[in-house]
Amino acid sequence: MIKGVRGAPDILPDEIGKWQRVEEVARSIFHTYGYTEIRTPIFEKTELFIRGIGQGTDIVEKEMYTFLDQSRESLTLRPEETAPVIRAYLEHNLSARASLVKVYYIGPMFRHERPQAGRFRQFHQIGAEAIGSDHPAVDAELLALLQQFFHELEIQEVELHLNSIGDPGCRPRFREHFVASMLAREPELCEDCRMRLRRNPLRILDCKNEGCRRVVEGAPKPIQFLCEPCTEHFKRLEELLHLLDVKYVINDRLVRGLDYYTRTTFEFVNKTLGAQNALVGGGRYDGLVEALGGPPTPGIGFAMGIERVVASLPKDLQAAAALQGVYVATLGREAWEKGFWIVQALRQKGVRATLDVEGRSLKGQLRQANKEKFRYCLILGEDELKKGQVTLKDMKEGGQKSIMLDEAVERLVERQGP
Ligand code: HAM
Repeated sequence: MIKGVRGAPDILPDEIGKWQRVEEVARSIFHTYGYTEIRTPIFEKTELFIRGIGQGTDIVEKEMYTFLDQSRESLTLRPEETAPVIRAYLEHNLSARASLVKVYYIGPMFRHERPQAGRFRQFHQIGAEAIGSDHPAVDAELLALLQQFFHELEIQEVELHLNSIGDPGCRPRFREHFVASMLAREPELCEDCRMRLRRNPLRILDCKNEGCRRVVEGAPKPIQFLCEPCTEHFKRLEELLHLLDVKYVINDRLVRGLDYYTRTTFEFVNKTLGAQNALVGGGRYDGLVEALGGPPTPGIGFAMGIERVVASLPKDLQAAAALQGVYVATLGREAWEKGFWIVQALRQKGVRATLDVEGRSLKGQLRQANKEKFRYCLILGEDELKKGQVTLKDMKEGGQKSIMLDEAVERLVERQGP
């Protein structure tokens, strides 16, 4: 038997309800906030990610699924979708249609990471990008959108962590101070961080190692080195978040694993999830469009891991939504034919309906209705049917009664239809 690839799990019919619910809520919220969907290919030229995400990042250095195709072109399965969206934005001149372009996407991403709980090699993101404005209102709106999203899904344990990491104007000065302070305590750093010190020192700030955390505690933080415009941006963002009643905590150690970020960076964290607890990551990338060959254009966005959001849903969510539709149970050939026709009529009216095709006994059919989580059972018996009557059984409340067939169908359409 051939098995699936490690770190690339199947999403089975039992779980799909939760995924669909998360995606539905996201689509509806994106609509109200003025985001439209964009779909970009699963693979891109490798160069896009190297330039977009940054040469020294974990993703580009060790996690990309890169291959040569038949024409010996180097392609990469997308590890994220911000760079592809910016590529599409430039390639199709989307800025000509609106000065602020707001798009969202839902789909699989690929990273060759070590699989563990909440971390996969194929995973799924819901993400959004707002390209064309550096106004802090765009940042505030995105964070309000995410707060509303978690509220609608009744996920209560999330906390918004917010930071500003400055821009190319002020970051070099921070970097200089930070590297000096890390060099002074280099022996206390873990092996990874001693490497990071040379290649990507900011990542030391969010190392989970106990020793590194102690070293970082007293070290300089990006937010202490912000230039005047970055300070002003962050201050205004905080005011607007208060205005919209968006709750957050400042986390001055929050830096992100991709090189394109400037100013605002954020994560939504679920503390009950263990090590892989970031549900959402995002931030501003005011230099990315230019780095990918476009004119200077600010932008901001986020992406969430659907697997982690699904794992955070309240346990009773699926159970509550589960009982739906009508199972038509029949006794005898004539009743079955009538039932077959009724099922068709119900389906045409938008009601989930089914009947047995495996010759189960009536008891077996009722058991099946239960197993498949139908809300109602419509029972057609030979004698009853001659009088135009059927039995309607409520699988949730437990009662049952004999009523006229037409009335039963009418009621079911009313209660279970679209
Ligand atoms: P990221 O922080 O790399 O950012 O990923 C965003 C989210 O995707 C994470 O918070 C996590 O929920 C999920 N995720 C990432 N890697 C995995 C994995 N191996 N397994 C399961 N879930 C994972 C980005 O991707 C940026 N493009 C976000 C962004 C959009 N920034 C601006 N615009």
